[in-house]
Amino acid sequence: MSYGSTRHVPVLLEEILQGLQIRADAHYCDATLGGGGYTLQLMKRLTRGRVISFDRDPGAIAHARALLGDDPRSELVHANFDQLERRWEQGGWPAPMGIVYDLGLSSIQLEDPARGFSFLATDAPLDMRFDPEQDGPSAADIVNGWSEEELADLFFEHGERAGRRIARRIAAERDRAPIATAGRLADIAAAVAGRGGRQARHPATRVFMALRMAVNREAGALESSLRQAMKLVAPGGRIAVVSYQSREDAIVKDLFRRAARGCRCELPPDECLCSNPPVIRLVNRKVIVPQEKEIAENPRSRSARLRIVERI
Ligand SMILES: C[S@@+](CC[C@H](N)C(=O)[O-])C[C@H]1O[C@@H](n2cnc3c(N)ncnc32)[C@H](O)[C@@H]1O
Repeated sequence: MSYGSTRHVPVLLEEILQGLQIRADAHYCDATLGGGGYTLQLMKRLTRGRVISFDRDPGAIAHARALLGDDPRSELVHANFDQLERRWEQGGWPAPMGIVYDLGLSSIQLEDPARGFSFLATDAPLDMRFDPEQDGPSAADIVNGWSEEELADLFFEHGERAGRRIARRIAAERDRAPIATAGRLADIAAAVAGRGGRQARHPATRVFMALRMAVNREAGALESSLRQAMKLVAPGGRIAVVSYQSREDAIVKDLFRRAARGCRCELPPDECLCSNPPVIRLVNRKVIVPQEKEIAENPRSRSARLRIVERI
């Protein structure tokens, strides 16, 4: 799928289609439309059913509109998936038999130099908003506006061990001139955390990921949306989530495990005294990961983790 010349290859597609146990007459929600890879494959399996597809990125919606035309099996919603219940109610659709999330950003967004998501796009402005029309800070606003301490905490929380040193260097560099491009930020991270050697990833990888998560408030949106999804999905219906980072996967795993135990508190499992009936059951106890063949064909699938649950 592409909106331009870049393609987005859907990840864990077979596992998703199998895991959702698709019924031709039911409604489904693709919470993260992207290049339309999942939506299109879901639609192909429907007769009277429909796929309602959400995306925050107006580019993804416009691309899908051109691709799908007025196919009655598709409905597109330009919204954050944390608006799931409200938008579903407004649409008047029957409860979905499946909701799928494919988190993060698409290859199309990553490779669009205007968006600033990639540390390889040297002159790109540091934007990183999924919806460029949305209010709220861009990555440049955060890099130049947050205190050194706040930046250090953000990078550290996202697994960047050199986070404090990178934040210190950012604070010094921005005193000379505001940091406005992806290239300058990538160079700062590389100068502090080192480049090459045995490192598999670019030293700016986690810094860019942390900023994107903060700009789009992704963790909060995910948690809120999954809680809504567990209420919205029809009994017997399934929720499938593909995540690409340990922090996101931890949110998904924790929420699903609690719901499967009937837990509604925030306490650790050994202190929880909740005795509510479980809301869902875990379909796969062990996380599903891509086969070696998929990773070889699509290296971006490497870090994918799939969890599936079923509403009781
Ligand atoms: C990995 S891509 C999805 C790719 C898609 N499964 C495919 O096969 O083409 C993730 C998409 O989710 C969108 N997205 C991320 N967070 C979102 C949110 N909170 N609400 C709605 N869409 C979101 C991004 O804009 C991006 O287009």
